[in-house]
Amino acid sequence: MATRKYDFKYMQYRGQEGRLIPLLQQAQAEDGFLSRERLERIHEETGVPLTQIYGVATFYAQFRFTPVGKHLVKVCHGTACHVSGAEDISEGVRDEIGIGNGETTADRQFTVEKVSCLGCCSLAPVIMVGETTHGNLTPVSVRKVLKGYAEAGTGTDAGSGTGTGAGGEGDA
Ligand code: FES
Repeated sequence: MATRKYDFKYMQYRGQEGRLIPLLQQAQAEDGFLSRERLERIHEETGVPLTQIYGVATFYAQFRFTPVGKHLVKVCHGTACHVSGAEDISEGVRDEIGIGNGETTADRQFTVEKVSCLGCCSLAPVIMVGETTHGNLTPVSVRKVLKGYAEAGTGTDAGSGTGTGAGGEGDA
């Protein structure tokens, strides 16, 4: 018989449906995605109907319902990145790790997500890997960036830092 663990961390939100979004954000930050089990626990501890929780979670694009890889690769397709070759960058990503938007590699190392503006248009075209921004990319340099993460093995996101990061060597 399955036993369920409760920590009642959501109890303080009972009756506060308006607090659902930060709750869901917190759950996703901890797990990387929103599992059914986690959503059921929020329902049980807050009293908010499960259908309402799903309604909110599915309304916002920021929420995911499947696990992501160790490295979440956000490929910007905002206007500045689009005109600077975002499609070519996505092709470079696919060439290097074999996946496109919304997909996760079989080894669960990478998940690719197509996003709108990442807020650093002057570096276009841009990707983010985890919390690290890589800009001024080319189809060649984006492959080098991803290779660096793949070769880093089991650590946290390689090439950590801010700014252009690894492989941001301009318009080669
Ligand atoms: S459009 Fe890509 S960072 Fe702004």
